[in-house]
Amino acid sequence: MTNRDSMSTNKPPSTSQSTVSPGKRTATGDVKGYLESEQIQARLVLINQAILEYLQNIKGEPEVLYKAAHHLIIAGGKRLRSLLTLLSCEAVGGSIDKVLPFTVAVELLQTASLIHDDIIDKDELRRDVPTVHKKFGHDLAILAGDFLIAQAFHLIGTHGSPELVANIGAGGVRMCEGEVFDLLISPSLEKEFTTKEYLKMIERKTAVFLEEAARNGSIVGEATGDQQTALARYGTLIGIAYQLKDDILDIQVKYQEIKKTTLSDLRLKRGNYPLMFALEQCSKDQSENCLHALNTNNWNEVLIIIKQHEAIEHTMQLAQSYANLAKAALQGYKFKNKDLLERLAEFVVQREF
Ligand code: IPE
Ligand code: IPE
Ligand code: MG
Ligand code: MG
Repeated sequence: MTNRDSMSTNKPPSTSQSTVSPGKRTATGDVKGYLESEQIQARLVLINQAILEYLQNIKGEPEVLYKAAHHLIIAGGKRLRSLLTLLSCEAVGGSIDKVLPFTVAVELLQTASLIHDDIIDKDELRRDVPTVHKKFGHDLAILAGDFLIAQAFHLIGTHGSPELVANIGAGGVRMCEGEVFDLLISPSLEKEFTTKEYLKMIERKTAVFLEEAARNGSIVGEATGDQQTALARYGTLIGIAYQLKDDILDIQVKYQEIKKTTLSDLRLKRGNYPLMFALEQCSKDQSENCLHALNTNNWNEVLIIIKQHEAIEHTMQLAQSYANLAKAALQGYKFKNKDLLERLAEFVVQREF
């Protein structure tokens, strides 16, 4: 029996094959080891096989465009959004075979968004390899991202309905809005931005894509309208929790853990939830000190102020409350793999990479 056969009969194969990079080798089944758990690994193996098969069949020229477009997607990644598409299809009893092309499309879009985001953020490392603009240059990186977006829409259009294309397109529009708001909401600007505004921004920048990934997976699985709404809501909520944790990781962990450039938010003077929360708590003097430290690249001083206001702890609590709301959104539905979705909600908060 192949992996795919056993998935279709809802019996995930056991596999020790590791497909997720970067990742921590923790005990199977615990929250941090969620991505390494057998049930999840079996699904990631299928997604990664589908991605590789797809990439192998994409032929064209000039060769360098294909190399640039495939560079980051081959390097790995957690495959979180494609997993969400697959789990949302499975949740409503849908076929794994049917949803796989859409999981590939989701990863093509995720990779494209990262290629362009790394150009904007001037980051040099991602998924433990040089970013596409660093390796292939700025022009090719823009085109590699465009190419992946075009490929993704071609794939969804070939295998799916106009509804699926429309949903993912609408999600892309909101992501672009969010990325631009991310440029506009700078803690170093004179105008003060609130954490409330920041939360709205990350909903667009990050969470809407998870929302549409979940919604489309559920539609492929022939979900009822209510099931679609519940899974899409779950996607939004874990997406917000995910980005809050990402903000913590950006200022807290080392490259070795996360395999992408760290301290990016401080370096670029971008919004970062713990920082914005700390600034809201600061006295006027301390807030001026913090902004001065930020503008003079004195990260240690900024980190001390973040610590003084227990901003990391507060952000963790907030992320956990979004994860709890995500789990609550699933209640009242008999989703087949509710336990996996619930553990995914915990993973996005507890992850350390
Ligand atoms: C990075 O997403 C972009 C954010 C929204 C924070 P991931 O952390 O899911 O990146 P990969 O796909 O695992 O590399
Ligand atoms: C990336 O946001 C989100 C996208 C829409 C691509 P960030 O810039 O905050 O994420 P990282 O830290 O580069 O992964
Ligand atoms: Mg970035
Ligand atoms: Mg960015």
